[in-house]
Amino acid sequence: MGDYKVWRVLSLFLLVVIAARGDLSYDFYKTRCPQAEKIVMDVMVNATLSDRRIGASILRMHFHDCFVEGCDGSILIDSTSTNQAEKDFPANFPSIRGFDVIDAAKAAVEKVCPGIVSCADILAFAARDGVHLSHGPFWNIRSGRRDGRVSMFNRVPLFLPPPTSNITQLITSFAAKNLSKSDLVFLSGGHTIGFSLCSSFNSRLYNFTGRGDQDPALDAALAQTLKGQCPRPPTRVDPIVPMEKTPFKVDTKYFKGVLKRRGLFTSDSALLNDPFTKSLVIKSAADESFFLGNFIQSMIKMSELEVKTGSKGEIRKKCHVIN
Ligand code: HEM
Repeated sequence: MGDYKVWRVLSLFLLVVIAARGDLSYDFYKTRCPQAEKIVMDVMVNATLSDRRIGASILRMHFHDCFVEGCDGSILIDSTSTNQAEKDFPANFPSIRGFDVIDAAKAAVEKVCPGIVSCADILAFAARDGVHLSHGPFWNIRSGRRDGRVSMFNRVPLFLPPPTSNITQLITSFAAKNLSKSDLVFLSGGHTIGFSLCSSFNSRLYNFTGRGDQDPALDAALAQTLKGQCPRPPTRVDPIVPMEKTPFKVDTKYFKGVLKRRGLFTSDSALLNDPFTKSLVIKSAADESFFLGNFIQSMIKMSELEVKTGSKGEIRKKCHVIN
């Protein structure tokens, strides 16, 4: 009997320790909000019906969230009179899209299980669903991320590499997040879907070294086409162009394009400037299941970056404002 008591006390202690550690888990919402992932998927399906690009936009939003303060929904927070938030930094504004969809998903989840599911988890689910709805793979996600209470404009450039980055800068900024050269290549494969504003790469067309020249690393025929779509700055308009040939479909076209020097950004072309990253671009271009299997593994790593769990952070009531 005494043994039994000791055993019960020990198990209880273990349970408390596990709960306090608050790791992510696959069945985090199993008892308190089993419908959460299905509700988010339904919202994403609906959003995709009216906007085929939304999956790409939300995938990018998740990347920008995770690299700054970890995957804690900090990108969703609005600026206030006393705080300029991440979402207003030029890398995010005006190009990041889809805040309304995350708000809609959160509202739909709150209706069924109020105060349970974090915005950070909703964003992670929605990014995964966005890939799947763009003819990409589906994978299971561990949940239990809590929402951050900090979102600072000035922190964004400390962590997010700009599109003008060379290979050393890219490797360094990914390494700062414990992501390897392989992760860099497979996650850059996120550029298999979506669109870009001309302003994000215009300097490659019109002013590469400050002397009105074109980037020699960019395929001349593509540069010609892009010049037809993107007017020489300064202009009032900022058109969008597809990232690669099939911007609504997850496939190997991005890597095939990079090999033909048709990557849109310096950061895409740069993957050819390191023997190891180049070898992975070649393999990914040739073998879709190689790319997809590795993309999933790297996405899982990225979506678990510096997460807040247990008693850290909060469960926001509305994603765009801290409680
Ligand atoms: C390696 C460093 C990266 C750089 C420098 C970079 C840069 C950019 C830029 C400049 C744009 C265009 C934004 C615009 O003008 O609208 C863009 C779009 C995009 N990026 Fe990246 N990116 C990087 C990595 C990633 C990663 C890791 C992912 C996700 C796994 C990702 C997913 C996307 C997607 C899906 C779009 C299209 C978004 C849309 O259509 O709204 N990027 N990226």
